[in-house]
Amino acid sequence: MFEARQTMASTSAGDGTPQGAAAGAATGGRGAGGGEWSWFAPPEEERVAPPSSPGARAASPPAPGPYVANPDYGRFDPGSDAVLIRRTLEEIEPISQAVTSYFYALLFVEHPRLRELFPASMDAQRDRLFRALLTAARLIDDERVLVEYLSHLGRGHRKYGTRPEHYPAVGECLIAALTRYAVRTWSEEAEAAWVRAYTAISQIMIDAAAEDERRAPAWWHAEVVSHEMRTADIAVITVRPDQPYPFLAGQYAAVETPWWPKVWRNYSLACAPRTDGLLVFHVKAVPAGWVSGALVHRARPGDVLRLGPPAGTMTVDHSRDSGLLCLGGSTGIAPIKALVEEVARYGRARPVEVFYGARSSHDLYDLDTMREMERRHPWLSVRPVVSEGPSDGLTGRLPDAVRRCGPWHAYDGYLSGPPGMIRSGVDALVGAGIPSDRIRHDSLDDLAVAGS
Ligand SMILES: Cc1cc2nc3c(=O)[nH]c(=O)nc-3n(C[C@H](O)[C@H](O)[C@H](O)COP(=O)(O)OP(=O)(O)OC[C@H]3O[C@@H](n4cnc5c(N)ncnc54)[C@H](O)[C@@H]3O)c2cc1C
Ligand code: HEM
Repeated sequence: MFEARQTMASTSAGDGTPQGAAAGAATGGRGAGGGEWSWFAPPEEERVAPPSSPGARAASPPAPGPYVANPDYGRFDPGSDAVLIRRTLEEIEPISQAVTSYFYALLFVEHPRLRELFPASMDAQRDRLFRALLTAARLIDDERVLVEYLSHLGRGHRKYGTRPEHYPAVGECLIAALTRYAVRTWSEEAEAAWVRAYTAISQIMIDAAAEDERRAPAWWHAEVVSHEMRTADIAVITVRPDQPYPFLAGQYAAVETPWWPKVWRNYSLACAPRTDGLLVFHVKAVPAGWVSGALVHRARPGDVLRLGPPAGTMTVDHSRDSGLLCLGGSTGIAPIKALVEEVARYGRARPVEVFYGARSSHDLYDLDTMREMERRHPWLSVRPVVSEGPSDGLTGRLPDAVRRCGPWHAYDGYLSGPPGMIRSGVDALVGAGIPSDRIRHDSLDDLAVAGS
């Protein structure tokens, strides 16, 4: 944490790379700080005893504290800065791949030790940092949601081994990439706005990570205790975490397998919290999928996975009496099953209507379990929906099937599955009279990256 306050002008980036050289390359020698390579200035006392000096480090214990922007740049202004930032983003959005490639190339050349934090192949995730910045820019006027989003991101970065002192390096390279590609909208004012925005974003992420460090591990080890193939490409995997895993029904976890180090993918927890502490995932192997393929076809009892912290807002609001209208497509039934267990566990019967969709009846791999739950709980109704071939339930696309039933205006909506299904499902539920603030689903940004 102490390192977070390190100035960009200091001698080390925390990875042993001379900062001046990095920043010099990043800004073409001009230096964002007006002669000095310093966007991020330390508080006064650290200017006297810089934390990068070994003596000073020994004398002053690491302490969490504010990540301070160079005072030359001032504080981030959500009004005027947001306008400049959005202008830049609009310009570079069509060429985001080139910007991202340049950004990472620069980052890894200038800070080779940071390369170790990233997976060998970064194809799937490469534009996520850029997309996160887009999301942050979109949310700039909504401070509460922005802070929630970035705090989650900051906590999630702990599992990558990200440290506060890494942020300036990323910031320098980001600005360098923007300087190079946003030729039309770039100016001194735009650069200053980006420096302020990046500083503010980083600070929220760093603070959230520091706070999380006091109460939770950066990741959990989890041993596979059972692995059951349900179809040729879907497995139900039960794991035992090495310490309690504090999640809510409907959330998901990032998972890393021993076969693809540093490659993390999200999987929904397919159960509500259990007294034995075990967790269940439903995983479908996608063609040429790194993590899903390994989990389905390679993992066996005894293998040890790593889990990131629980995430996601598709959870049950027990303060409400309304029914739950749940749409689960393919393995999207996993978190829906968790929600049903949660309603049962809480003990206050609320109507729960589950529409479980898949391409064919064969793909409804968990229908028997859902039917069994339906028999036990009079408040639960389960309707299978298949889009191709014979069905002993409904046919067609999941959102269309939901539209044909109802009325639904007194229900809260929960959706999980492929992004296309979620988008058209949300439209169907809004059309059926459920306001969008009563509809929950996993982040479409994440899902779009997942391509699922
Ligand atoms: C919040 C969230 C929850 C999720 N929950 C689950 C879950 O419970 N169970 C589950 O199985 N998956 C779930 N996913 C999807 C999962 O995170 C991975 O994206 C998926 O397993 C593919 O990862 P991979 O490493 O195997 O494939 P990658 O190596 O990332 O991709 C390999 C190739 O397959 C394509 N691809 C990726 N996903 C799909 C897909 N679904 N269908 C067809 N092609 C695809 C990619 O575009 C790429 O070309 C969830 C995703 C999110 C964002
Ligand atoms: C404002 C600063 C940053 C933003 C907005 C940001 C955003 C993101 C996002 C959205 C992801 C995708 C996965 C996820 O959601 O966790 C990601 C992944 C990652 N980030 Fe960051 N990040 C920032 C800073 C950093 C820094 C300083 C480091 C350290 C070098 C870092 C290292 C990583 C790594 C290693 C991954 C995983 C990449 C992968 O799985 O391919 N990030 N980041």
